[in-house]
Amino acid sequence: MARPFLKWAGGKAKLAPLVAERAPERIGRYHEPFLGGGAVFFALREAGRIADAALADGNADLIGTWRAVRDDVEGVIAALEPLAARYLNTEQLQQAFAYYKVRDDLRPRLPVAWAARLLFLNKTCFNGLYRVNRRGRFNVPHGRYEQPAILDAERLRDASRALAGVELCAEDFERACARAEPGDFVYLDPPYQPLSATSAFTQYTGADFGFADQQRLRDAFDALTERGVPALLSNSAHPDIENLYRGYAIERVPMGRSINSNGAGRKPIDELLVSNIERVAGASGAQSSRCIPEMNSRSPNASRMASPSASASSSPAHRSGRMGTMAPP
Ligand SMILES: C[S@@+](CC[C@H](N)C(=O)[O-])C[C@H]1O[C@@H](n2cnc3c(N)ncnc32)[C@H](O)[C@@H]1O
Repeated sequence: MARPFLKWAGGKAKLAPLVAERAPERIGRYHEPFLGGGAVFFALREAGRIADAALADGNADLIGTWRAVRDDVEGVIAALEPLAARYLNTEQLQQAFAYYKVRDDLRPRLPVAWAARLLFLNKTCFNGLYRVNRRGRFNVPHGRYEQPAILDAERLRDASRALAGVELCAEDFERACARAEPGDFVYLDPPYQPLSATSAFTQYTGADFGFADQQRLRDAFDALTERGVPALLSNSAHPDIENLYRGYAIERVPMGRSINSNGAGRKPIDELLVSNIERVAGASGAQSSRCIPEMNSRSPNASRMASPSASASSSPAHRSGRMGTMAPP
């Protein structure tokens, strides 16, 4: 059974059944522009609901890893094996050194080795977080788990089979949304609008996803609606987000959160599920297009994000120029 192979902040394993229930019966092509760990993609794929999919994320290292798993899963497993063995055979007190050595010293060039490094760091870092510093270097501290499951070869193989023929793009959500057509289905799961200053985790790509990006996303959602493309979007139950999507069907769904490092702060809170599905019935009009070819899938160096549209370039994320790279190899 194919399941997410990464821990990802904001992963939607719990929300996936609700999205599946609300998704259109027939899905021409499935689009997920904020892919992360891909919980909803795997749930729909396993349920036999999608035959064709275009998955994207602004984090180029993440997409490079997904591509490596899709294209050469045995190569990824072979590259991850020695990293996992070295770490697990190290005395627990010394494991932090083993972690920092991979994090700070290893700069592999082959995509499979780069993917293995990201998988290793994802399973051994603090809470599976992904965060880079101003220079684009992954800077999450060691996580201290007892015997972490660093390598699950069967899970990677299942994921690879589920990804056969699936398009994977490192790009901004606007570009990914623009490729969707009537008859397709788009699920949007952006970094959530923080409910408080301390609950914020919006920096998956090295650039903050601020309110200007939330507005840009609402505009993209409106454009999907105008083109007759069914879409669902999840976000925090923040009043500003409710305001942005006024006029759409909005459901409040109770969900657990696990991003807060303070255990006491991990309590279930409502999230929003916004739908345009009723509104788009009967609409049509988009032109077909594919993502910029995956010519860069062979080199992590080259897997930088495709340049966003003109309006995207005014967002803080793009002004910072730090999107989508874990660390230059
Ligand atoms: C909440 S997570 C998605 C989690 C995912 N649904 C899952 O189940 O794991 C948000 C994702 O948006 C991505 N992201 C942030 N800014 C973006 C942008 N401007 N365009 C596309 N993706 C972006 C992040 O890299 C992160 O993976």
